[in-house]
Amino acid sequence: MPLEAMSPNHVAVVTGGASGIGLAAALRFAQAGMKVCIADIGAERLREAELKLSSAAGNAADVMTATVDVSRVEQLQELQHAVQKRFGGTDILMNNAGIQPGSQIFGPAESWQRILNVNLWGIINGTQVFAAAMIERGRPGLIINTGSKQGITTPPGDPAYNVSKAGVKAFTEALAHELRSMGRRITAHLLIPGFVFTGLTARGRTEKPPGAWTPEQTVDFMVERLEAGDFYILCPDNDVPRKLDERRILWAAGDIVENRPALSRWHPDYAEAFAAFVKKG
Ligand SMILES: NC(=O)c1ccc[n+]([C@@H]2O[C@H](COP(=O)([O-])OP(=O)(O)OC[C@H]3O[C@@H](n4cnc5c(N)ncnc54)[C@H](O)[C@@H]3O)[C@@H](O)[C@H]2O)c1
Repeated sequence: MPLEAMSPNHVAVVTGGASGIGLAAALRFAQAGMKVCIADIGAERLREAELKLSSAAGNAADVMTATVDVSRVEQLQELQHAVQKRFGGTDILMNNAGIQPGSQIFGPAESWQRILNVNLWGIINGTQVFAAAMIERGRPGLIINTGSKQGITTPPGDPAYNVSKAGVKAFTEALAHELRSMGRRITAHLLIPGFVFTGLTARGRTEKPPGAWTPEQTVDFMVERLEAGDFYILCPDNDVPRKLDERRILWAAGDIVENRPALSRWHPDYAEAFAAFVKKG
């Protein structure tokens, strides 16, 4: 079913829209004839993205950029007002800005706060600031929040990122339920990318590793699943098919049900059992 929210002249706002998945989504929305606003930090990155968007949109007047730090609610409020004034409202909000600088369980509180402020509060702020006017607009709309598989299976190695993305999952599930209960025409969706080659994951590489998807592939998949009405947009990549994700997610939930140790998937005593469980799937 084509997405009514993605119709020509409707309005999309994408945070973290100057690169990676956010930029690919903004380009896709512009190609669909939407008016697009990208919000990001870093004026230089925004300028480059604006050029690409303007040529995709074919009309520079349909493209807006804004320097916004999503961890600052007042900056999102200004953004909402500016979009309302320029484009008349918002039909698709994609809360996508995110950082992954690395973290440690006993690492500095400031680092934990920064990660949670951007990845989790950025999404709460964006939703709380934009949702009321989107509901009032009375048109079908979408709020897409970018989560992560790391917020679901919470692998060892980057606990602050996992906590932030687990929060995004819980928040977006509650949002979807609330919007459904209110009987509104706005739906919420959790984008769960696989391994995507972007600034976030490049780590010095200039060429896409074979296992990764491109941001464009990810957005194609996202649009296809939005059209199908999915809440959980669980993206595969070239290394991880959906079936494997399903087994990993089931195993993680099974830790509680089976009363296994936390993160047993990475516990040497469970290596064999996990491998057998994956094989059975
Ligand atoms: N790339 C992957 O493999 C992958 C996997 C799972 C989830 N994700 C998530 O996808 C989202 C997009 O990441 P990406 O991979 O495209 O990376 P990216 O680094 O290319 O894009 C992220 C964008 O967010 C912007 N940003 C960072 N902090 C911000 C802030 N405080 N306010 C506004 N903008 C800010 C950055 O400037 C950047 O343009 C993130 O939420 C990330 O956690 C990515």
